[in-house]
This record gives sequence, structure tokens and C-alpha cells, in this order.
Amino acid sequence: MLFKSLVSLALAATSVYAQAVKGKAFDHIFIIFLENTDFSLAASQPEIQALTTESVLLSNYHAVTHPSQPNYLAAVAGDYYGLNDDANHDLPANFTTIVDLLEEKNVTWKTYQENMPSVCYTGYDSDDGLYFRKHNPFISHVSIALNSTRCQNVVPSSQLYEDLNSTDPMPNYMFYTPNMMDDGHNTTVKNASLWLAGFLPPLMNNTKFINNTLVVLTFDETEDYTIPSNNVYTLLMGDAIKNLKNTTDNTFYTHYSLLSTVESNWGLGNLGRNDVNKNLSNVFSFVANATGYENVNVTDPPVLNGTEPGFLASTSAAAQTVPVSALLSATVAFLAGAITFMV
Ligand SMILES: *[C@@H]1O[C@H](CO)[C@@H](O)[C@H](O)[C@H]1NC(C)=O
Ligand SMILES: *[C@@H]1O[C@H](CO)[C@@H](O)[C@H](O)[C@H]1NC(C)=O
Ligand SMILES: *[C@@H]1O[C@H](CO)[C@@H](O)[C@H](O)[C@H]1NC(C)=O
Ligand SMILES: *[C@@H]1O[C@H](CO)[C@@H](O)[C@H](O)[C@H]1NC(C)=O
Ligand SMILES: *[C@@H]1O[C@H](CO)[C@@H](O)[C@H](O)[C@H]1NC(C)=O
Ligand SMILES: *[C@@H]1O[C@H](CO)[C@@H](O)[C@H](O)[C@H]1NC(C)=O
Ligand SMILES: *[C@@H]1O[C@H](CO)[C@@H](O)[C@H](O)[C@H]1NC(C)=O
Ligand SMILES: *[C@@H]1O[C@H](CO)[C@@H](O)[C@H](O)[C@H]1NC(C)=O
Ligand SMILES: *[C@@H]1O[C@H](CO)[C@@H](O)[C@H](O)[C@H]1NC(C)=O
Ligand SMILES: *[C@@H]1O[C@H](CO)[C@@H](O)[C@H](O)[C@H]1NC(C)=O
Ligand SMILES: *[C@@H]1O[C@H](CO)[C@@H](O)[C@H](O)[C@H]1NC(C)=O
Ligand SMILES: *[C@@H]1O[C@H](CO)[C@@H](O)[C@H](O)[C@H]1NC(C)=O
Repeated sequence: MLFKSLVSLALAATSVYAQAVKGKAFDHIFIIFLENTDFSLAASQPEIQALTTESVLLSNYHAVTHPSQPNYLAAVAGDYYGLNDDANHDLPANFTTIVDLLEEKNVTWKTYQENMPSVCYTGYDSDDGLYFRKHNPFISHVSIALNSTRCQNVVPSSQLYEDLNSTDPMPNYMFYTPNMMDDGHNTTVKNASLWLAGFLPPLMNNTKFINNTLVVLTFDETEDYTIPSNNVYTLLMGDAIKNLKNTTDNTFYTHYSLLSTVESNWGLGNLGRNDVNKNLSNVFSFVANATGYENVNVTDPPVLNGTEPGFLASTSAAAQTVPVSALLSATVAFLAGAITFMV
């Protein structure tokens, strides 16, 4: 009975999402995060230079803090809540993310995580040391991790190729995390660049993938913590920018721009955090032009290599996780809600 109810819910969700939702400047966004590289080092890689001629280079784009995990959180939640570590954290159910905004408008989403052991896996890492939760900000939100419908969209990256083969449209919003070797974390930016040179071109040639799609390639943070601007090399690619290839956009952007740009493109509203902080969240200018959003000229850029205070600051010293018993009771509460809904 319970199982049947959940299956009907899942089927209902599928039919809701049968059509891709048109955006003002793009219909799909595919965000890729590489690791720990200073702007100048990324710029010196021949493979990245080759991609740059097919791209808009965002020369004034910035990570927002250190180390890795809070930057990933910032990109989907509009805040990192004072976090300055890479341990497991479970943000309570009322901590909204871009997923809440997307779903309210039926804009579909999925995160593809290389070497994630299974759909909705909540562990710290994988046995092979290739997947780490610190690079998967979705799973750190209880609103996603404990919702069995939502969590179906937190998937191993092999599903990307299944999705490309299926008859359903690609998700509108996609967030791709390469594994610890491919993203340069345990290797070098050279390895990451070579990986990209193999990974991206076939996707760019795939007519289902490239269908008014914006591909954003960025780095989570600079390797050198003493660079106050935290300026990271960032490219916009795909057919959504086809008339702007091989150009540079000097507008001041940060990881929060990943939110404001998506919000502006689909008219999603906002999270009310740094996604609405005008000095940190300019919308990518080709999108701002399409939506009528007014960017600000940031002439006195903030220092972005420190940690602002917040909810997770006090717990940062040690791994802070919700006890399993609490997770279980929350799941039961959610299932109970689903049954009530079906009855
Ligand atoms: C979540 O709820 C708590 C308790 O009501 C509140 O203090 C906190 O500000 C809320 N957090 C967010 C991100 O809304
Ligand atoms: C989302 O889909 C549901 C079910 O088809 C529909 O009732 C609702 O109006 C849609 N919402 C928007 C914002 O399009
Ligand atoms: C990558 O480095 C981490 C330490 O940062 C280590 O735990 C993990 O096993 C490494 N992964 C591989 C595949 O070597
Ligand atoms: C779980 O996710 C579904 C679909 O994403 C959503 O409609 C529902 O409101 C969520 N449930 C809870 C308890 O948040
Ligand atoms: C996708 O389709 C191609 C051609 O039909 C097939 O060779 C490939 O194995 C499929 N891949 C997946 C992941 O289903
Ligand atoms: C990293 O790249 C170098 C060549 O630049 C290669 O020799 C090495 O095997 C690569 N490492 C991994 C783990 O792929
Ligand atoms: C992409 O398509 C072009 C034109 O059909 C072809 O020349 C090229 O080899 C393809 N590249 C890849 C990586 O598939
Ligand atoms: C591209 O997207 C449109 C809807 O926006 C859809 O009708 C069309 O079939 C898609 N093309 C491919 C090749 O998937
Ligand atoms: C930020 O950069 C400044 C200037 O290089 C340096 O003094 C400071 O220690 C850095 N902050 C952190 C947290 O690394
Ligand atoms: C890209 O632009 C530069 C000038 O900014 C020019 O020298 C170069 O030839 C262009 N490359 C391509 C492939 O269009
Ligand atoms: C946006 O519009 C401004 C003003 O018309 C123009 O100067 C700029 O080139 C446009 N930028 C892009 C990326 O289209
Ligand atoms: C931003 O302000 C600077 C300094 O006042 C000025 O030189 C620059 O032209 C302005 N840029 C834009 C896009 O308005």
C-alpha cells in the first residue's frame, strides 16, 4: 500500500516534468565545478585555452570563501552559513535551496556526481576514494536528502548518458561534479584540463544536450588562500552563447551569480540570501540583457578569502551530523505525509 502510493507519486512527478521549461536566455544550464586552481594557472592550460575560444570568458568571477565545501553550498543555497570545513553537515528542513525555487515553477533539475555509489547516497565518501560528499551540496540539505522524490535527482554521473538516450527532455538545471581525480583535487589542473578535453566535446556535439543550453565551467576556489579576491577562471559555453564565442565579459560575478542568473532566466523569485545581495550577485550579462535585470558596477570588490559568521560556524570544528534516529523519524514523518496526501 505504502509502496504503491509512493510509486503513484513518482509517476505523477514524471508526467509533470514531461516538457522542458523555456527560459528567457537559455532552456538548460549545465554547471561544472573543478577544484582549487588560481586564475592564472587555469588560463595557462592549452586545453582550457582551446575551450576559451568557444566561450565567453568571465574574467572577473569569484569564489566566496575557503575551503571547498562552503563554496559548493553557496552556489545552491546563497549562503555558506559560516562554514569553514569539509565535514558532513545536515542543514535543517527549512534551509531552502535553488531546488525549492525550481520545483515551484516546474523547472526540472538533477545533479550528476561522478562515482557516487548510489542514488541519494548520504555517506561522507565512496570506498574507492573518488566521490566525496563535500563536493555535493544538495545532499547536505535535509529538504533534499530526506525527501525520497527529490533525492531521486541526486545521482551517479552514469545517469547522464542514460538521460541523453532517453526520450524525456534533459533536466533544465544540471549540476555536474567530477570525481577527485577528474576535478584536479587529488591530481593537478593539467589532469582536470585533459579530462575536460575528453568529456566536453562529445556533449557539445550532442543535439539533445546542446539545445539552447548554457554550460558553465568554474573552479570552487583558488588554491592560494592569500588571494583576497578569490578570482577563479570561469567560462560560459554552449549554443546559448553561440553569438558571443571568443569574447570576454569583465562584469563582477561570484558563485552567487549562479543563483541569480538561474532565478532571472526562469523568473523564479529568490532565496533572500546573497542571491539578492546586489554587490555579490550580478546576473551573467547576456542573461541580464534578455531579462531586463540591472547589474551593478562593482568597483570596490570585497575580500572573499575569509569566512563570514553563520549558523554552521560554531559546529565547524567537528563533524556535525544529525543522528540516524532523527533522520529515520523525519523520513517516517515524510512518508506519513505522503500517505495522508494519497488518501
Ligand atoms: C529555520 O528555522 C529556525 C527555527 O525556526 C530559524 O531560527 C532559522 O532562521 C530558519 N533558517 C532558515 C535558513 O530559514
Ligand atoms: C506545475 O505543474 C502542475 C501540474 O501539472 C500545475 O498544476 C502547475 O500549475 C504548474 N506550475 C507552474 C508554475 O507552471
Ligand atoms: C583523494 O584524496 C583524499 C584525501 O584528500 C583521499 O582520502 C582519497 O582516497 C583520494 N582518492 C583517490 C582516488 O586517491
Ligand atoms: C518532496 O519533494 C516533492 C517533489 O520534489 C515535493 O512536491 C514535496 O513537497 C516534498 N515534500 C516535503 C515534505 O518537502
Ligand atoms: C546509449 O545509446 C547508445 C546507442 O544506442 C548505446 O550504445 C549506449 O550503450 C547507450 N548508453 C546508455 C548509458 O544507455
Ligand atoms: C595526470 O596527468 C599526467 C599527465 O599530465 C598523467 O601522467 C597521470 O597519469 C595523470 N594522473 C591521473 C591520476 O590520471
Ligand atoms: C563533432 O562534430 C563535428 C562535425 O560533425 C565532427 O567533425 C567532430 O569530430 C565531432 N567531435 C566530437 C568530439 O564528437
Ligand atoms: C529541443 O528542445 C525543444 C523544446 O524546447 C524540443 O521540442 C526539441 O525536441 C529538443 N531537441 C532535441 C534534439 O532534443
Ligand atoms: C586573505 O588574503 C590576505 C592577503 O593576502 C591574507 O593576509 C589573509 O591571511 C588571507 N585570509 C585567509 C583566511 O587566508
Ligand atoms: C579569439 O579572439 C582573439 C582576440 O581576442 C583572436 O586573436 C583570435 O584569433 C580569436 N580566435 C578565434 C578562434 O576566433
Ligand atoms: C548587453 O547589453 C549592453 C547594452 O545594450 C551591450 O553593451 C552589451 O554588449 C550586451 N551584452 C551582452 C553579453 O549581450
Ligand atoms: C564601472 O566603473 C568604473 C570606474 O568608475 C568605470 O571605469 C567603468 O567604465 C564602469 N563600467 C561600467 C560597465 O559601467
